[in-house]
Amino acid sequence: MNVDPLALFRTEREAARAADDPMAHLCTVANVDADRQPQVRTLVLRDIEGQLAVFVNASSPKWPHIQERFAFCTYWPSLSLQYRFDVVAAPLSPETLAASWALRPDAPKRMDWLYELHDPQSSHIDSREHLLEVFGRLAVDEPLRAPPNARGLLLEPKQIERLDLTQDNGVHDRQRFEQVDGAWQQRTLIP
Ligand SMILES: Cc1cc2nc3c(=O)[nH]c(=O)nc-3n(C[C@H](O)[C@H](O)[C@H](O)COP(=O)(O)O)c2cc1C
Repeated sequence: MNVDPLALFRTEREAARAADDPMAHLCTVANVDADRQPQVRTLVLRDIEGQLAVFVNASSPKWPHIQERFAFCTYWPSLSLQYRFDVVAAPLSPETLAASWALRPDAPKRMDWLYELHDPQSSHIDSREHLLEVFGRLAVDEPLRAPPNARGLLLEPKQIERLDLTQDNGVHDRQRFEQVDGAWQQRTLIP
C-alpha cells in the first residue's frame, strides 16, 4: 500500500485538534548551532498555502541554522502519536508573510519591531523592567506592518517518521517515509 505520510499527518492533526489536544498546533524545532551544540524550542506549526510553515524572526541566533534545513517533531497525547520530520525550508513570499503577520496579536507584532529597532531576539537585557520600558516606548508607525526581519518558512518534508503507541500488545508501530525520486518510500523500523 502506498501511504502519503503528509496526508496522514494532516488527517491525524485534524483529529488531535478535534480532541482539543493542546499540542496539536505546536512543534519542537531542533538544529545544531555554530558551536555544534544542539538547540531546541517550541514553535507554532502553521498551514500556509497548503504547506506546513513556521514564523520566526531573522534576528534570532537560530535563523542561520534553520533557514535551509532543520528537524522538528510533534507529539499529540490525545492520540499517543509522535511524528518526526526532516524538512527543507524555503522563504514565504513577502506578500503572504505580510498578510499572515497582520493577523498576529499586538504584543508579538510589537516584539518583532523591538528586535528590529533595539536588540535582537534572544540577546541579553539588564532586567525585565528595562524590557517593558523599551517595549512601552517603541516608536513604530501605526498601523503596524511586518518588519524586514519577520520571516516565514515553508517546509518541504524529506523524511517523516510516525510512531504510534496505541497497539494493544504494547509493541509500538514505527514507520519511516523517505522521499526517493519524488515518491515516498516506506520502511518499518524497530521502535
Ligand atoms: C507555545 C509556544 C509557541 C511558540 N511559538 C513560536 C513561534 O511560532 N515562533 C517563534 O519564533 N517563537 C515561538 N515561541 C518561542 C520559542 O520557543 C523561543 O523561545 C524563541 O523563538 C527564541 O528561541 P531562540 O533563542 O532559539 O531563537 C513559542 C513558544 C511557545 C512556548
